[in-house]
Amino acid sequence: MTSANDAPLSVLRQLDSTLYSNITQDDLAFFRKAVAINRSHGKEEDVEDETIKTHILDIQSKAYAVHNYNCIRRFAFIRPKIAYLAGYHHALELLKTRENPILADIGCCFGNDIRKAAMDGWPTQNLLACDLRREFWDIGHALFKSTPETFPVKFIQGDIFNDAFFSPGSSAASNIAGIDLTAIDSLTPLREKISAIHTSSLFHLFDEDQQLALAKRLSTLLLLEPGSIIFGSHGGQLIKGIRERRPPRIDPAERYMFCHSPESWKKLWCENVFSQEQGVKVRVEAELAQVERKDLGFARANESEDKANEENKFWAMKWFVQII
Ligand SMILES: C[S@@+](CC[C@H](N)C(=O)[O-])C[C@H]1O[C@@H](n2cnc3c(N)ncnc32)[C@H](O)[C@@H]1O
Repeated sequence: MTSANDAPLSVLRQLDSTLYSNITQDDLAFFRKAVAINRSHGKEEDVEDETIKTHILDIQSKAYAVHNYNCIRRFAFIRPKIAYLAGYHHALELLKTRENPILADIGCCFGNDIRKAAMDGWPTQNLLACDLRREFWDIGHALFKSTPETFPVKFIQGDIFNDAFFSPGSSAASNIAGIDLTAIDSLTPLREKISAIHTSSLFHLFDEDQQLALAKRLSTLLLLEPGSIIFGSHGGQLIKGIRERRPPRIDPAERYMFCHSPESWKKLWCENVFSQEQGVKVRVEAELAQVERKDLGFARANESEDKANEENKFWAMKWFVQII
């Protein structure tokens, strides 16, 4: 474990290739399959694991230079995390019951999760990826060796909080069927049009008020019919409150993470976002799971090992909000 006395903060968050061990055989199998579907023959190539590792490390360093998210540092971009969420499996059901349901991934980064949805049979013309930074989407093409032609999922760049990109107050267009995602360049036309919204590791980037604002914004995108769903995972806590990020950040604005508990998260959606008066009833599920985070090996000066181990524990909250 690295003591705060040992190294400056900038060093503590430098890339560390030993974290490559976070990548599992299942992650690599997903990667190989995702690359293969972009090839005309659709077959997996016989590429050595070492060659893949070199490629992934190269991509990681390019992405980390765009923005130093922990999820990039710990190689979370290789895992189809969406597949481990109950909400995703509920969303897949909509493919059987609705005509052309849209699935959107907000804060999609490289697009690994939306690639998993395409792999599972969600028609690419009904998938939408959205992120603040286009560079991550482009890096995703480089990672999975695709092009906008071989993987034609619509990507739109924008800040979810920016009214010019997404005006939640505008009235919804009446035409639900047959939305042409290729023709849009903002989220506003999709108000009340999206059947399933996935968003992971996005909420915890914002403080408590912003998390509520984000939840309200996302809710206005949802097609208000039973079965429509918003789901994801992000940092949570047993008791809602502020957690100091570890290792600590140089930028004071990034130093703390506000974390909801499953109880406060359910309350937020049931009382502050969707309410009985509005006539929309929702089922909200949220559960915490402790995740092993090899990237959080950090101890402050004079901090006991037990205390450091406790502080380094990370709770991921997996959740969904479904209209009933
Ligand atoms: C920590 S990454 C998580 C990426 C991915 N969803 C995952 O679970 O691995 C957060 C992503 O959200 C994007 N993001 C941050 N703020 C945003 C905003 N205001 N609007 C849209 N996307 C945003 C970032 O660019 C980044 O790709």
